[in-house]
Amino acid sequence: MSKQTDIMEKIVALCRRRGFIFGSSEIYGGIGGFWDYGPLGTELKRNIKDAWWFDMVQNPPPGPNGTEYQMVGVDCSIIMNPKVWEASGHVGGFSDPMVDCKETKSRYRADQLSVIQGRDADGQMFAFTSDDEESEDKARKKAAKYFKVSVEELSSATSVVPLDSIDVAAFARILGPDAKEVGTLTVPRAFNLMFETYVGALQDSTSKAYLRPETAQGIFANFKNVMDSTRVKIPFGIAQIGKAFRNEINPRNYTFRSREFEQMEIEFFCKPDTSMMWYEFWRDTRLAWYESLGIKSDKLRPRQQGEDELAHYSDACTDIEYLFPFSEETQELEGVAHRGSFDLNAHGRASKGKEDAFAVIDDATKERFVPHVIEPSAGVDRFTLAAITEAYSFDENRASPEFMKFHPRLAPIKAAVFPLVAKDGMPEIAEPIFRDIKKRMPCQYDAKQSIGKRYARMDEAGTPFCFTIDGQTKDDGTVTVRHRDDASQERIDKSRCVEYLQDKLGL
Ligand code: GAP
Repeated sequence: MSKQTDIMEKIVALCRRRGFIFGSSEIYGGIGGFWDYGPLGTELKRNIKDAWWFDMVQNPPPGPNGTEYQMVGVDCSIIMNPKVWEASGHVGGFSDPMVDCKETKSRYRADQLSVIQGRDADGQMFAFTSDDEESEDKARKKAAKYFKVSVEELSSATSVVPLDSIDVAAFARILGPDAKEVGTLTVPRAFNLMFETYVGALQDSTSKAYLRPETAQGIFANFKNVMDSTRVKIPFGIAQIGKAFRNEINPRNYTFRSREFEQMEIEFFCKPDTSMMWYEFWRDTRLAWYESLGIKSDKLRPRQQGEDELAHYSDACTDIEYLFPFSEETQELEGVAHRGSFDLNAHGRASKGKEDAFAVIDDATKERFVPHVIEPSAGVDRFTLAAITEAYSFDENRASPEFMKFHPRLAPIKAAVFPLVAKDGMPEIAEPIFRDIKKRMPCQYDAKQSIGKRYARMDEAGTPFCFTIDGQTKDDGTVTVRHRDDASQERIDKSRCVEYLQDKLGL
């Protein structure tokens, strides 16, 4: 087991044990790609969404060169008129190439399979799931046996190539990842990722609808409503946080690729000739936001997409990526895309019969134009997972070796109050302190078990400070403050607990 896999397993175990994340419907064996957040995970996720809303919508940073702009929010329905998804291109094109194994009934994304092949043009090939050490090990063992070499000698006798690069005529020679027979993988077929449902009593093509695969289209569909009902003027942004659903072929890497997840999206509308300036502004703003919440810059990587990767409507896109423990490569947390006028044009054409139906007029120049859009689109669950992995710390020299170094804004519980023993007048002093803190921020009271165990519980929850009321409190009115990150302790007057927290947490 590699060190990285080991860390991921420890994180998953801690998340389950302490109630950050559970598998959905576990009592019935679970369901792939769906997750539930427990009490601590729910607070953490809520803190992430609140921080995003406050920093991007209610109190956004100054625009480039002091340019004024406004930000407003919407909260749209998950199920929309299916014509939205036809116009946006999702009905026709929101698909991944997929490969089925006829023997095991497993389904794989074609771009996530790799193949071990020998030099012999007619020889057998061995498929495995890329980025999955166990699957690769199995394929290597089978290949070594077939090529009559040791596993160590395999790389000199074979090469590893993506499945995409294999001619479909040669699929008959591939052994699927878990198959016993050769040639059971189907050729890649497009698989639409949208979940379908039916609206109303009838279940036919006229009542078919979709669970939204992104929150963005609700914003575009309401562009005119927002302009007409508020006093926003270009440049401005509309933000939305909400659930999105994708029937991912291969949900994996814990919550990273789920079938139900939350997005935090901004569609920022601007004049076409200023769009590159706003694109750079949002790319830099979003990167700085992750850093401000404690994501270390050496694990964060902005990656500008190459020309060949760009979506057909996009002039530029930067993926903000993070180095998760489950992969050696950085993975996408958020995409900041320049979408041009693609979406407003598409909805103008489909809903009003005119591409420029959503054009606006510049007050000063009287110029008429369809706004261009910059879209910072972030995943709540992916950032939650990044915040968890970033916070996860292990120090075998501590009495409680595992602790979560959450940034204070994200910490699910900000403080805990403990009477050293549940007698001798200590609870009577501790309870009012607890109630005072609780009015202002999430705080817990714990009077059970040894003080070491109570600190350990709070360390695992990522609580930055604990206040302990002990024998000395009765003598001189001071309490012990215990710091999560280095387990150090100091004493402060019991009347200063709230002020101390506000100062240290910057809340
Ligand atoms: N409106 C643009 C859009 O939806 P995307 O790159 O497909 O773009 C944006 O998704 C973000 O949503 C991603 O950067 C990621 O954080 C999150 N996301 C996408 N698919 C996801 C999945 N299957 N599970 C968890 N998060 C996902």
